[in-house]
Amino acid sequence: YEILVLHGPNLNMLGVREPGVYGTVTLAAIEERLTETAASLGVRLECLQSNHEGVLIDRIHEAFGTKDGILINPGAFTHYSYAIRDAISSVQLPVVEVHLSNIHKREPFRHVSVIAPTAVGQIAGFGAHSYELGLIALHRHLQERGE
Ligand code: DQA
Repeated sequence: YEILVLHGPNLNMLGVREPGVYGTVTLAAIEERLTETAASLGVRLECLQSNHEGVLIDRIHEAFGTKDGILINPGAFTHYSYAIRDAISSVQLPVVEVHLSNIHKREPFRHVSVIAPTAVGQIAGFGAHSYELGLIALHRHLQERGE
């Protein structure tokens, strides 16, 4: 399978950004670990981080017909980007939503994900490990769909 991994705004600052909430692992380290997990599953990854909604939307559109699924941490866009949600609906690829923190036990505005209704499922609260769990879940979903 070909999987697109998308990271939304401020996730390039991991390691420095609010370590009490997000830990000290950098995005590069997360991607390195994720790539190892992908290799063990026989999955190929392409990773992109952007602070710009339109860049993420363009990349989701490009995934149509070329990728089998999308693993996404939309960052704060999770809570209000109907445009990213509509982009996901447009390409009809299976999406797994991941978050480092458990958004459901944080500020009330983080409890709502406008992305979640378009996702196969959501994994939140396991720090950097959320990405690996999300990748395994997406891989299993693709296998069960028999693609
Ligand atoms: C986040 C949670 C969001 O609420 C926040 O805006 C982020 C990171 C997470 O991974 O825990 O940027 O998506």
